[in-house]
Amino acid sequence: MGVAIDLVLALHIIGIAALLGGVLAQVRALGAGDAVVTPGMLHGAATMLVTGMVLVGLNQADDQEVDNTKIAVKLAVLVVISVLVYLNRGEKVSSAIMGAIGLLTVANIVIATVW
Ligand code: HEM
Repeated sequence: MGVAIDLVLALHIIGIAALLGGVLAQVRALGAGDAVVTPGMLHGAATMLVTGMVLVGLNQADDQEVDNTKIAVKLAVLVVISVLVYLNRGEKVSSAIMGAIGLLTVANIVIATVW
């Protein structure tokens, strides 16, 4: 079970890379007003949702403590990120929207690591 949890955690981190990497790759385009919500960001957000839920299930099946409040907050933040990414997929967006996606993703990383 431990290896399965570790492998899904690895996928969880690849999801973060796709989502946050997608935002960072658009920073230069923001200045010109050409920043786009790319497919990789959408797939990253979806990966976070699926791997996050699988991680909760695997940890519970393995009798590991899961902090439900922390998970609920991360899930709520990810829902907001997912709505922003989904509604604007393939579209040019303002720096406010791209910034919100990036900051909320960083917020979830800090919640995951500091909480
Ligand atoms: C943008 C969204 C998210 C980010 C950036 C994120 C980030 C992280 C990071 C950095 C870790 C490794 C640190 C650790 O083990 O505590 C982690 C672990 C974990 N994440 Fe996420 N996560 C996100 C969304 C979610 C969601 C939506 C769920 C559940 C529905 C979830 C469930 C978990 C679980 C169960 C772990 C294993 C460790 C723990 O119990 O905290 N994550 N996440």
